[in-house]
This record gives sequence, C-alpha cells and structure tokens, in this order.
Amino acid sequence: MRYYVVIVLCYFIDLSAGAFVMESENEAGYYWREFDGKMIPHDALPGGINSGGVTTYIGQVYARNLVIPAKIDIVKGTVTYEWGYQEFRATEYIKILCARYPEQFQWLSTGNGYISQLEGKHLIRGGYGENADIYIGRIQLDDELALGKVFNGTKQTTLHIPKDGKGTQHAAFQILSYNPSISNRNDSNDCQVVINPY
Ligand SMILES: *[C@@H]1O[C@H](CO)[C@@H](O)[C@H](O)[C@H]1NC(C)=O
Ligand SMILES: *[C@@H]1O[C@H](CO)[C@@H](O)[C@H](O)[C@H]1NC(C)=O
Repeated sequence: MRYYVVIVLCYFIDLSAGAFVMESENEAGYYWREFDGKMIPHDALPGGINSGGVTTYIGQVYARNLVIPAKIDIVKGTVTYEWGYQEFRATEYIKILCARYPEQFQWLSTGNGYISQLEGKHLIRGGYGENADIYIGRIQLDDELALGKVFNGTKQTTLHIPKDGKGTQHAAFQILSYNPSISNRNDSNDCQVVINPY
C-alpha cells in the first residue's frame, strides 16, 4: 500500500516538472512532412500561385544553420528561399507543410507595426532565426502570388520573397494562420443521406 502511494506521488511530480503532453486527435491540424524533391504529398497545403497560374507549396529548409520557410514550385521543380536579399535554391533538408483540413487556414492581412493586432491568432511558425519570430507570408507580385518568410524582429516585421535570383522586402502582406474552430463541414456533407423516392 505504501509503495502504491509513492508511485502516484512520483507521477504527479513528473507532470508538474513540465512533462510533455500527448496531442489529441483533434489538435493534429498541420504538420511538416519530409519532401523528397519529387512527390507532393496528397495533403500538402496550397500556398501561392506561380506566374504560370499553378499552385505553389509551403516548404521549410535547413540551411545556413537556420530553419527557413521556402517556396516549392512544382513546374520549375525548385525549392527556393530568401536570405540576405538574395534567392537561394535548396536541394536537401526540405520539408513541406501539410494539413488535414485546408479550409482551417486563413491568410490574414498585416504588416510592419500591425502584427501585435494578431494577438490570439495561431500563426504558423515557418522556421527559427536569431532574435526573431519566423512565420509564413505571401504577397501578390506582378503575376505571382509569391510565398516567403515573415521576419518579426525586434525593430520591424517584414515579408521577404525569393524572386528571380533576388530577395525583395515588403511592409504589407498576408500571414498564414490556423483556425481549428472553423468546422469541417465537408466531413458531415460526406455523410448526407440522399433519399431517392423512386
Ligand atoms: C514580434 O516581435 C516583437 C518584438 O520582439 C514581440 O514582442 C512580439 O511578441 C512578436 N510577435 C509575434 C506575433 O511573434
Ligand atoms: C469544402 O470543400 C470545398 C471544395 O472541396 C472547399 O472549397 C471548402 O472550403 C471546404 N470547406 C467547407 C467548410 O465548406
């Protein structure tokens, strides 16, 4: 009996010491999958539109000791990211953002000086940088709905787009957010029963 009490106590101590928590089925809304450079997973989340009108996807690369959001263009067959006002191509250590219900994602309009208005929104972390929060953003540039990196530093918040070998910086843009409270009605539609009177 005494032994049993000790075990229960240890269990509670472990929890209060910051144990990890298992995610429930409902919370698993999005995830980064390995990208082999060939196959776009069936559940990849559409991100932007290239100049040919084809969907681009949201990537994440490990490069320069950083984790950086990237643009996956399936027509050109390229994965590119912005760093230091230049466009770079990644060929390894690439992931692709995938989601169970694409309708639970929203592109919110924001910009430099306005990011604090998005408090409470679930912004999708696109990478890791020193002294900065990195999210995923996009902007219409000429004939492209261009994907890039939102850099929320201590002084400013900007979107950085890799395009035609260069990196461009923008003060007003859209940022990707996840809103699981948007219900997935399509699931229930699938279950609709159609009664044929004949
Ligand atoms: C953006 O950066 C500022 C300054 O570092 C920080 O206070 C704020 O929480 C950040 N906001 C987000 C959404 O990351
Ligand atoms: C349902 O599916 C359609 C098309 O497949 C999509 O446009 C829509 O956003 C989905 N979600 C809801 C809640 O209707």
